[in-house]
Amino acid sequence: MIETITRLETLRARIRDWRRQGLTVGFVPTMGNLHAGHYSLIELARQHADRVVASVFVNPTQFGPNEDFSRYPRTPEADARGLQEAGCDVLWLPDVATMYPFGLQAAASVHVPGVSAVLEGAARPGHFDGVCTVVTRLFNQVQPDLAVFGRKDYQQLAVIRQLVADLQIPVQILAGEIVRDADGLALSSRNQYLSPEERALAPALHRTLQAMRDSALQGLPRARIEAEADAALRAAGFQPDYAVIRRPDFSEPADGERGARVALIAARLGQTRLIDNLEFDLPA
Ligand code: PAF
Repeated sequence: MIETITRLETLRARIRDWRRQGLTVGFVPTMGNLHAGHYSLIELARQHADRVVASVFVNPTQFGPNEDFSRYPRTPEADARGLQEAGCDVLWLPDVATMYPFGLQAAASVHVPGVSAVLEGAARPGHFDGVCTVVTRLFNQVQPDLAVFGRKDYQQLAVIRQLVADLQIPVQILAGEIVRDADGLALSSRNQYLSPEERALAPALHRTLQAMRDSALQGLPRARIEAEADAALRAAGFQPDYAVIRRPDFSEPADGERGARVALIAARLGQTRLIDNLEFDLPA
C-alpha cells in the first residue's frame, strides 16, 4: 500500500528508516495529473533503487503570471492509485507552506545561468528559476540517491543536470524516454486542454519533428529546415514559439557539421502550449 506523506518530519523519518536498513532511494518529482509517461519514470526509478518516492506539487513559482497555474489539472486520488500500481512506495504531497516556509515572496531562489536563458527560458521568463528552486528544495527534503526526469522536457533535464553538477548535489540524474500516443503525440497533462478538433491536429507536432530530422539527414541547411518547420506548423493551425535544431548543449550547429542533434518545438494550439523534441545523430 502506498504511503501518502504531507509532513516533512514524517518524510525524513521514513527515509532515515530506509537508510538504516541500507536501502537506496529513487525519486520522481511531478506536478501530478499522472499518465503513462510519469509511470514509466517510476518504473525506471524502481529498476535502479530499493525504494521509490514520487512527489506531487503544482509549483507556483515556475508558472508565469498569464500561465495555467490555477487551472492546472489536479487529480490526487487517481495519482495515488496510479502510483501504487506503478510500485511507488511513498507519495510526498507537500503544501505550499511546507515547500516555501518563508512564503513565496521571501523564498530563496536558485538560478542556473546559460542553459536556462534560451528557448523555453526566453519564452517563459523565470520558469527555470522556479523549477530549479523547487527541485533543489525537493532534493533537500527527499535526499535521494537518484532522481528521474523525462526527456520530453529536454531543456529542463539539461538545466537540472547543470544545477546538480554546479551545486554538487549528491544525486544521480536518470532520463526517462518520451511516451507517445499511437498517433505520435507525446503524453502531457496539458493534452487534456485540447478540444477534439485540436487533439486531431496535435500529432503534426511530432510529424514536423520527424520531417526536421529527415531534412537534416538529407543535408539541407538548418535555416531552411527551421523555416519550413515553422511554416508547416502554422499551416497545421499552430502558433510556434520556436522550431529549431540545436546541438545537445543548445548551441547552433554549422551546416555540414556532423554529430548529435536535437530538434525542439514549442507551439500553441488554441490556448494550449505544447512542447516536444526529437534527438538524432548526423553520423560522420
Ligand atoms: O517536470 C515537472 O513536472 C516539473 O517541472 C517538476 C520537475 C516536478 C518541478 O516542479
